[in-house]
Amino acid sequence: MEKQAIDVAKNVSFIGAFDPQIRTFDIIMKTANGSSYNSYLIRGSEGVAVMDTVKKEFSADFFRRLESRCSYDEIRYIVLHHLEPDHSGALVELMQRAPQAKLIISNRAVMMLKGLVKTEIEFEVASTGKKISLGDKTIEFLSTPYLHWPDTMSSYLHEEKILFSGDVFGSHYYDERLFDDVVGDFSYAFKYYYEHIMRPFKQYVLEALKLYEKLDISLIAPLHGPILRTNPNYYLEQYSTWSSEAKFRKHLFGQKMLSVFYMSSYDNTQAMAKRVTQGADSVEGIVASMYDLSSLDEQNMIDLLEESDAIIVGSPTINGDAVKPAWDLLSCMAYLENRSKVGAAFGSYGWTGEAPEMLHDRMRWLKFRLPVTPLKVKLIPTSQELEECFAFGREIAEITMGKMQEIDL
Ligand code: FEO
Repeated sequence: MEKQAIDVAKNVSFIGAFDPQIRTFDIIMKTANGSSYNSYLIRGSEGVAVMDTVKKEFSADFFRRLESRCSYDEIRYIVLHHLEPDHSGALVELMQRAPQAKLIISNRAVMMLKGLVKTEIEFEVASTGKKISLGDKTIEFLSTPYLHWPDTMSSYLHEEKILFSGDVFGSHYYDERLFDDVVGDFSYAFKYYYEHIMRPFKQYVLEALKLYEKLDISLIAPLHGPILRTNPNYYLEQYSTWSSEAKFRKHLFGQKMLSVFYMSSYDNTQAMAKRVTQGADSVEGIVASMYDLSSLDEQNMIDLLEESDAIIVGSPTINGDAVKPAWDLLSCMAYLENRSKVGAAFGSYGWTGEAPEMLHDRMRWLKFRLPVTPLKVKLIPTSQELEECFAFGREIAEITMGKMQEIDL
């Protein structure tokens, strides 16, 4: 197929690349429809700006589209909204072809640039309010960190009212018709992208939205998937709603939620889990619930982890390790923002009993507050050991409610 640029607005073109075959993105995302690496070219009366590049393997498509709209010596600026390789893959070659062009990156990107390109590159730093001019076109920058890398920024083309949002408002959804009103139904891909890429950074999304809301936006040009030209405010509102959702319990009843997740081979860890839960539930202001990890799917895990103020994980020790569903549960924290949740671990064991300590250590790396030592019981818990489980749950709940002084272990 001919790799022509696609008009987006007056003197603004899509020069990115389509990737219909990709099925997994960034290891963690499934991409049933493929994706695209969106890159844009802005032509002003005094030169050209290239907004991002593409994944390296797609450089040929990118250069062909670029060449259909300008010659390399016309390029004055190359803007990278963040340095992730799916958008910076053609940077080095582009700078070789357009050595006069000035690279614009965010302040946070400076530390990362050398690690990425492995050579000295001249650049200029942009932060909120900085503008560059192409004569009759003006691009203004906005700092929008962590969306989705720490170095992320957005930009706004004043004359055409276009927001170049970076990964924000992206979708992994391949459709060469490109615009939201003519492509297929990409609503699931838009939400899925938010869930997997932006959800851990909700607070930063809300900060970015405050900047975007000050702009008069007629079109959003994200780095993946459809370009959003029909009702940009709708997409802003979706992000605002998803990022502002209050915790159900806290919101409705003023309570904190403590979740006990467990797996059990011979009911012993389950017996511990019941008493831990009862102990936690005996504290006023706490709602404690227990969940058998063998019957939770990943989305439930993510939702429950997000909703919970405290998370207690119970696992038997099998072959010197905690069981896989317990590790799977904790791996779901990759999708979430962990703002100091309380954590703890317990379990029954037959031989060596390493699992609770291993889970405790893992939770430390995940930035949980860990106020109590892991609790373990050899095989069948006695009635006294079950009382210890009750006290364990109660202590964690009291710490979660701020009723007890906490020591980080
Ligand atoms: Fe599409 Fe964060 O790269």
